Amino acid sequence: MEIIISDSPNDVAVKAADILQGYANRGATLGVATGSTPLATYEELIRRHTAGELSFAGCKMFALDEYVGLPIEHEQSYYSVIHNELSNHVDIDPQDVHIPNGLAEDLAAGCADYEQAIVDAGGIDVQLLGIGANGHVGFNEPSSSLSSLTRMKTLHPQTVADNARFFDSAENVPVHVVTQGLGTIQRAGQLLLLATGEQKAHAISQLVEGPLSAACPASILQIHPHATVIVDEAAASKLNNVDYYKFIQQHKPA
Ligand code: GLP
Repeated sequence: MEIIISDSPNDVAVKAADILQGYANRGATLGVATGSTPLATYEELIRRHTAGELSFAGCKMFALDEYVGLPIEHEQSYYSVIHNELSNHVDIDPQDVHIPNGLAEDLAAGCADYEQAIVDAGGIDVQLLGIGANGHVGFNEPSSSLSSLTRMKTLHPQTVADNARFFDSAENVPVHVVTQGLGTIQRAGQLLLLATGEQKAHAISQLVEGPLSAACPASILQIHPHATVIVDEAAASKLNNVDYYKFIQQHKPA
């Protein structure tokens, strides 16, 4: 894993955009994430697109997850979030923006179709990830199978509480979701996980320095051949080997 420790959340976004820009400009298939962490990165990508530095023409996007039963027009559906925060502002063909279907009558069949659509697109080249305070990625909560594919999951009460800020109250947060599995995520060519703030410090320490374990789903990055973690100083504050990770970055071969 490459661990990049940045001075500020803004610097995290710029570094993430630097990596994603290379993929976008070659029409790659991008795995996109929701949550508040990637929003600054999306703003930076949109800024570069508006400035003519980057194009999403020919790209495909696949979102990680979606709430079950939330109408896509709801402003907190991940369909709305991905369209409103990113894809509507760039030159990707709307038909190439894919979000798991949380409204399918047969959710299992919808999940299998989503998995197949990723395969048909030739796989995801780079998957952007946030991390939950409990170590979840996508909506793969602790105890998720490390080889799981896209499927329905039940949220952990902590995740419901964490995401209540986006809804009128915790009771309005859907408890069921569909999410790419940890096995799905593992198949992406590169994993790019972002985290900022002290509230993510424990999860980041478990991801980077804890055991590979379903107790911390994000620890699957340890067995991925091309995983990059970009964090700010606050999210890095519980890492034991912080000086070494900085030393590696200072001595990066040209
Ligand atoms: C949600 C999303 C995750 C995201 C997590 C963290 O649960 N399903 O993909 O990583 O929230 O969100 P935030 O970046 O707002 O802390």
